[in-house]
Amino acid sequence: MTMSKLRPLPTTAALTGIFEALAFFRDPNFAKSRFDRLGNVFETSILGQPMVFIQGEKAIADLLSQPEAIEGWWPESVRQLLGSHSLANRNGAAHKARRRVVAQLFSSSALQRYSRGIINLVDELGEELKTAKEPLPLAGRMRRFAFSVIATTVLGLEGIDRDKLFADFEIWTKALFSIPIALPGSPFAQALKARKRLLEKLQKILSQPINGKGGLDLLAGGLDEAGIPFTDEDLGEQLLLLLFAGYETTASALSCLMRELLLDSQMETWLREEIDTLDWPPTPEEATMVYDPANAPRLDALVKEVMRFTPPVGGFFRRTKKSLVLDDIVVPNNRVVQVALIASNRHGIGDLDFFRPQRHIENECSLSLMPFGAGERVCLGKSLAELEIRLMVIGLFRKLQLEVIPEQDFTLRQIPSPSPRDGLFVKIRV
Ligand code: HEM
Repeated sequence: MTMSKLRPLPTTAALTGIFEALAFFRDPNFAKSRFDRLGNVFETSILGQPMVFIQGEKAIADLLSQPEAIEGWWPESVRQLLGSHSLANRNGAAHKARRRVVAQLFSSSALQRYSRGIINLVDELGEELKTAKEPLPLAGRMRRFAFSVIATTVLGLEGIDRDKLFADFEIWTKALFSIPIALPGSPFAQALKARKRLLEKLQKILSQPINGKGGLDLLAGGLDEAGIPFTDEDLGEQLLLLLFAGYETTASALSCLMRELLLDSQMETWLREEIDTLDWPPTPEEATMVYDPANAPRLDALVKEVMRFTPPVGGFFRRTKKSLVLDDIVVPNNRVVQVALIASNRHGIGDLDFFRPQRHIENECSLSLMPFGAGERVCLGKSLAELEIRLMVIGLFRKLQLEVIPEQDFTLRQIPSPSPRDGLFVKIRV
């Protein structure tokens, strides 16, 4: 590449970033409208934080191919609520060591161990829906499910302990992408208090003998090998991260998927043709494999399309440690870069503004999708999330015919993750 091809970084004229922040939180097309105007790499300011947005294969590949020149970054609200030990907030060796330890909770043998618990949760929800006297909000049930999977399978919690954690978690997640000023009574102040209670509970769990129900015993070996002192406080923050990272995201994917299926009877019929050929429940040994892409290609395509169309995480971040060239644009050192997944996933040739799972079966989708991020920080819970989603969809649709209650708002709220605004109320089809 000749130096003359390089271009300076286009920027919006935003200085304080107040209006940009309002637009960012309210407008799902925030990044797209600016990409259309300024190109695939541009800089703006969100509440005083300069931020470079990027979309498209070239810019993203350029960023991720230089791991030594970038590090992880999260907004201040997320940083404070996750805590300074959290692997999400660490870089270099401190990040790697913690990642190695936590990854043990998501090995294939660990997932096999969790399968029975997940299948039971799916069956319990099926029963609840079957016997409900009134319509139930499916989005709320997906949240409860995704939370229970982590709280039960990872932490081994049951009953009251789990329900108490859930209540605090709902307060905590509401403030994750808020303005991080703890004015008395503000969502952020409430979330900081909830965080304190959550950590106390998590540390209490860690100080008790391991009950053999969850996966915490899997951590023990790795802790010795990690080569860093691992206090209970440190470990508590890693568990907090898992609840954060794995619950809102998976619930969003599930709720958006159910919404697409229940609002489009042709798509539901198309999927049911496949689901009707699959057995339920699988044995725990089979559960991690029987519904994989080879055996359930339509379900796989549907999940991919949900992740493309309504990615649970709208973008992930890096900070530059030196000046970088992204898609021929020079991005200076010490800039926060957001890989804008929502816009990127619709940027290209074809009918990308339409929800059409078949594109993934017909190999028509040339985009490289990254709903789970990429590189050294790629999502640690990807396989667990995919397993949960497959088991929930097959388990529910194999047994039940659901229909949505018409009088409700089916549009999606976007923050912190896409979810049907009115909760997606459903009842059994008679
Ligand atoms: C559909 C569900 C999920 C989606 C879309 C998702 C997406 C993501 C994304 C985009 C990242 C940032 C990656 C990057 O910066 O390159 C991430 C990180 C992470 N995810 Fe997930 N995630 C999901 C479920 C889960 C689950 C179930 C867990 C665990 C219980 C989990 C644990 C994590 C952790 C620990 C990280 C931090 C990794 C690091 O910084 O090294 N995620 N996830």
